[in-house]
Amino acid sequence: MQLETERLLLRRPQARDLDAYAELFADPEVVRYTGGVAKTRAESEHAVQRMIDHWEDYGIGLFSVVRKEDDRVLGRVGFLLWDTESWQHAMLRPPTGGTETEIGWTLAREHWGRGYATESATAARDWALQELGLRRLISLIQRGNDASVRVAEKLGESLEREDLRGPFRRPTDLYALTLETPAR
Ligand SMILES: CC(C)(COP(=O)(O)OP(=O)(O)OC[C@H]1O[C@@H](n2cnc3c(N)ncnc32)[C@H](O)[C@@H]1OP(=O)(O)O)[C@@H](O)C(=O)NCCC(=O)NCCS
Repeated sequence: MQLETERLLLRRPQARDLDAYAELFADPEVVRYTGGVAKTRAESEHAVQRMIDHWEDYGIGLFSVVRKEDDRVLGRVGFLLWDTESWQHAMLRPPTGGTETEIGWTLAREHWGRGYATESATAARDWALQELGLRRLISLIQRGNDASVRVAEKLGESLEREDLRGPFRRPTDLYALTLETPAR
């Protein structure tokens, strides 16, 4: 399963992507609004395995974003299930109640500011809505992460709930996109 845009390929993550993820998750600027704690290489290895497992368990997940011109893994964009009772995501604990599907994005810092997040997330959004038939996507965004809010808005999401009650270390807002037209 692979999605393609003008500059990028989105494919399921593989163990061989570890070098790219280890570098990305070790960067304090990259993780600033997603927990704030940089990962060791061993922790990144677990994170890659959890991404792979999420696809196996739920048929949906985060894609590795690969630049076509040089085959480099720039980061990840795609989907994560959240339990709407506990607001914990399925890579940490299997959901026990209702779920929401988050669309999220994380790129290595050297690749920011070139439209890659918007380009890849637009392709992922279209796949989820058109091919999977999802009617709603959310994004959980920490207050102050203005670049991420901008990407969410460009995807058609808008602020729905402020300061979500959950195990978040800092105020986190819920952006959402809900299709109003009846399902096919
Ligand atoms: C969020 C992130 C994926 C954006 O990646 P990107 O490829 O630079 O995004 P794009 O180039 O597609 O678009 C970014 C938009 O935000 C804007 N932007 C960037 N930095 C900004 C800032 N500090 N304040 C306001 N807007 C900002 C850009 O101008 C652009 O909008 P525009 O097209 O209207 O000009 C990237 O910054 C990242 O990986 N951050 C760390 C991980 C993270 O926080 N992920 C989100 C968790 S919710």
